[in-house]
Amino acid sequence: MRRNIGWPLQLCLVLAMAGIAGQADAKTLRVASPDGRIVVSVSDDGGQARYAVAFDGREVVAPSKLGLLFKDAAGFERGLEIVDAAEASADVTWEQPWGERRLVRDRHNELLVTFAEAAAPSRAMAARFRVFDDGVGFRYEVGRQKGLKGAVEIVDELTEFVVGDRPTAWWIPSGEFNRYEYVYQSTPAGDVQDAHTPITLRRDDGVHLSIHEAALVDWSGMSLQRLRPGAFTAELSRWSDGVRVKTETPFKSPWRTIQIADAATGLLNSDLILNLNEPNALGDVSWVEPGKYVGIWWAMHIRERTWGNEGIHGATTEETKRYIDFAAENGFMGVLVEGWNIGWDGDWFNNPDLFNFTIAYPDFDLDAVAAYAKDKGVTLIGHHETSGGVTNYENQLADALDLYAAHGVKAIKTGYVADAGRIERTDDKGVLRYEWHDGQFMVDHHLRVVTEAAKRQIAINPHEPVKDTGLRRTYPNWVSREGARGQEFNAWGSPPNPPEHAAILPFTRMLAGPMDFTPGIFDLEPNKRPPVREDMPRSDPGNRPQTTLAKQLALYVVLYSPIQMAADLPENYERRPDAFQFIKDVATDWEESIALNGEIGDYVTFARKARGGDDWFIGMLTDERARALQAPLDFLDEGRAYRAEIYRDGRLADWRANPYVMIIETRTVKKGDVLTFPLAASGGAAVRLTPAE
Ligand code: NOJ
Ligand code: CA
Repeated sequence: MRRNIGWPLQLCLVLAMAGIAGQADAKTLRVASPDGRIVVSVSDDGGQARYAVAFDGREVVAPSKLGLLFKDAAGFERGLEIVDAAEASADVTWEQPWGERRLVRDRHNELLVTFAEAAAPSRAMAARFRVFDDGVGFRYEVGRQKGLKGAVEIVDELTEFVVGDRPTAWWIPSGEFNRYEYVYQSTPAGDVQDAHTPITLRRDDGVHLSIHEAALVDWSGMSLQRLRPGAFTAELSRWSDGVRVKTETPFKSPWRTIQIADAATGLLNSDLILNLNEPNALGDVSWVEPGKYVGIWWAMHIRERTWGNEGIHGATTEETKRYIDFAAENGFMGVLVEGWNIGWDGDWFNNPDLFNFTIAYPDFDLDAVAAYAKDKGVTLIGHHETSGGVTNYENQLADALDLYAAHGVKAIKTGYVADAGRIERTDDKGVLRYEWHDGQFMVDHHLRVVTEAAKRQIAINPHEPVKDTGLRRTYPNWVSREGARGQEFNAWGSPPNPPEHAAILPFTRMLAGPMDFTPGIFDLEPNKRPPVREDMPRSDPGNRPQTTLAKQLALYVVLYSPIQMAADLPENYERRPDAFQFIKDVATDWEESIALNGEIGDYVTFARKARGGDDWFIGMLTDERARALQAPLDFLDEGRAYRAEIYRDGRLADWRANPYVMIIETRTVKKGDVLTFPLAASGGAAVRLTPAE
């Protein structure tokens, strides 16, 4: 539904105000969410484009600037007036090929506001606002016009988010060498200097906000920079020459998003980011398969094996067959193999150009391994570590993908291990340029890989990626990614992930989309084992998952990803078949997901219904504080008995001293019952609910 608000009518919506700063008729337009609780105001007060957001009548984003600056033309910054506006609304339900829920409702009201320069040449910039019950999205749209014809270089985006200095913010710093892989901090918003998004805020009145972006295409990633305490401006990542965005008119920016809820769980049950992405562009994607995998991976991180040939090579034919056998016996879909291709020996971090994506080490026979996997009904999961050498990778991309496609590989994990700002690009003159992981070059690169892979029916899972902005909706083969501190930090990260990490991720990183966290470590003190060889010393014994065993199981339900790894060594699972049963049973694709309770950094409980079945799964976890959590079973079918298989912390469990004590029990439950579990310090619980008949 689209209505153009012709000027006389528009004036009805407009609060014409007396001239401020010499402007005769400053205008303010308003658009509300379908439930009326969120109201966005857009104004040209003082010749500047501004927006503000109110929730239940309270201002949650104070008037904040909009605008763009160009390298070779005047920016949209001052001397602007609202010259046109159009309203629209939508209420549609669309289906995800895979996801945390099958059906997603997109219900919003829209306001498209055109600002034009009051003086000639009267160039125009539009801002499109979409207001949902769970938040707001807006983007810039700039047409081809006099003074902005063809190529444009954007040197600054002026978008502000004035949230005030008092809310508590959960955030990681931006522009730092380790990209998105930082321990989350919680501080007053006024103390945040710069931060990646999603950044999540809780106000004193209990209102929760999360600022992020959706559909990051053909633009640079946005982080937030402090203007004044509690007032942030968009900081776009940049190209090596300093330009933020290279585009051409007509262009549109990604959506800037503000999720809004009265409770923390409201953020978790929001589909705003997906709703602001374009529909599936790939057509039939039934070849994208959610599922669980094991792999030659953790062994390298705990220094049992090495990626290259200089220690004890992990990715040998024999070892890969051992993992394939284990996967087949236990019903896993895939086996990830890292380190089979040459390039790892020596200082791989500093020699990205040595990676060859089609030549194997002599002790790895890709043909033999692929045939063996096929025979056992298991698929290989490929790996492409680039070390940030992106031109080297792109030069080999087609061959590398073809090779995997020919060997039945259906998913590839890519990797960009390099300090932030040290992605290597060779330009068309043959000159080396350093780019940012979240700059436009990499935004484009990831989409090149994803679309090339799609042509070969291969899914992509990048590590050290650009952040997720919901593009899985448009490109459903972009199944997962890293982009936060994952399990690997518990092998060698000093410090490892703290107990509250998994209680913060759902409210921050996971709002962006699925994460390949790689849960399921069963030997919780891997660095206490004696080294396998003198020249392969373990890391500090204090580096370990700071969780109980039951919490490792809960991660499968709490941290959503359509591909989930069982990350530990097969022998560690074989030692705990009782606990391993949950990993074998848990689904990875969901009909519905519900966040039942949660507070940022404290605890969280999710219930998810398996797609294509009747089973429900529950995952709950806590931070360093032991506490009892409840799961009200209101989501179960009426009149049906369910068998609950419960895996929870034992009475004396404690992540530090006693992480393994777990109670595994079954109960019969029905809709309306409440499961209450006492969780240990950094503990958790995992439940499978199956109809009893
Ligand atoms: C970092 C990734 O996060 C990890 O999963 C991978 O094993 C190494 N890079 C090597 O590619
Ligand atoms: Ca990583």
